[in-house]
Amino acid sequence: MNTLNPAHQNRLVIIPGDGIGPELINATLPVIEAAQRVAEISPLIFEFHEGGASLYQRTGQNLTPETLQSIKTATATMKGPVGLPEIRRPDGTEAGVLGGVLRIELDTFANVRPIRMLPGVNAPIKAAVNEIDYVIVRENTEGLYLSRGKGVGNDAAMTDTMMITRIGTERVVRYAFELAQLRSGAPSDGISRVTCVDKSNVLASFAFFRKIFDEVAEQYPKIQRRYLYADAAAQELVIRPQQFDVLVMENFLGDILSDLGGGTIGGVGLCPSGNIGDHHSYFEPIHGSAPDIAGMDIANPISQILTAAQMFDHIGHKECGTLIRDSVYRVLAAGDLQIAANGQPVGGTRKAGDTIAAEIEAHPFRVES
Ligand code: IPM
Ligand code: MN
Repeated sequence: MNTLNPAHQNRLVIIPGDGIGPELINATLPVIEAAQRVAEISPLIFEFHEGGASLYQRTGQNLTPETLQSIKTATATMKGPVGLPEIRRPDGTEAGVLGGVLRIELDTFANVRPIRMLPGVNAPIKAAVNEIDYVIVRENTEGLYLSRGKGVGNDAAMTDTMMITRIGTERVVRYAFELAQLRSGAPSDGISRVTCVDKSNVLASFAFFRKIFDEVAEQYPKIQRRYLYADAAAQELVIRPQQFDVLVMENFLGDILSDLGGGTIGGVGLCPSGNIGDHHSYFEPIHGSAPDIAGMDIANPISQILTAAQMFDHIGHKECGTLIRDSVYRVLAAGDLQIAANGQPVGGTRKAGDTIAAEIEAHPFRVES
């Protein structure tokens, strides 16, 4: 179970991953330690595990059964980005990608991807900091990606099949509505709203998704429901992002539209996520491992650092989550940490983490402005 148990050591399983992953993790650990110190909680015991493309290259598997077991019994799991484009399976797909294993094995059906405008970041969308603040809830165990590893065809044609189930849709839609109940509504009007994103105008599977959405929505009469076709949603996320509070959608659509959302606020290098199920969870940035800039101390660790905050929230240490998030906001707003136009943190990856950690220690109780 992913809950704190005072009778046991609280283990944090860490999978640094590939490419820039280890650097992001190294920049994040001092932040985690600072938050734990300031909040005076008993520290999580770091337990490092290998996983991803380089492990696959060496051993033929991207995750060991032992690591999977450790994750299942840990208090929390945080991973860095994984995957290396040249390391592929015989069917042509990337071998290092762990999502296909972890999300299914841990049954983390909700992929929770908050998109929030940060201060001091040169985003392509012109909006105030509190004007973009929504969460994409991406279904995480079925949809088109259920076909992972099961594509059928030959050298003339290939098919992948999208499966939408009643139970899979019910639980993710319920998650979205429960989340909306905890939030304070859309920035534009303060109304709590869940937007169903699909292509029910074209595909029966999506029409089914929407039907189930409606059935679940009946149980949440105080939350406004909205529908958008995915193509229209892509536009609205760019030109009117203020209207969004919580969005729920099929796996593949959520993969794409969450990167789009990340782009609007200045890049996926700023975007955390949680993979959440009834019994297990794990937390990771939404982006890939950027092998082209690995080892150069130039990657932006904010995605990973906000991932740690989201993880703390989930395991019942909201005080740590808040400390981390507030400190990220403050150093960006004050210009103590600057993000260059190319998305890289000025001064480097490690220094960015140290700056945020120092802010936590220096101003633990300063309120977010
Ligand atoms: C993500 C990633 C993964 C996904 C890839 C690496 C398989 O893009 O978490 O969004 O598609 O789910
Ligand atoms: Mn993705």
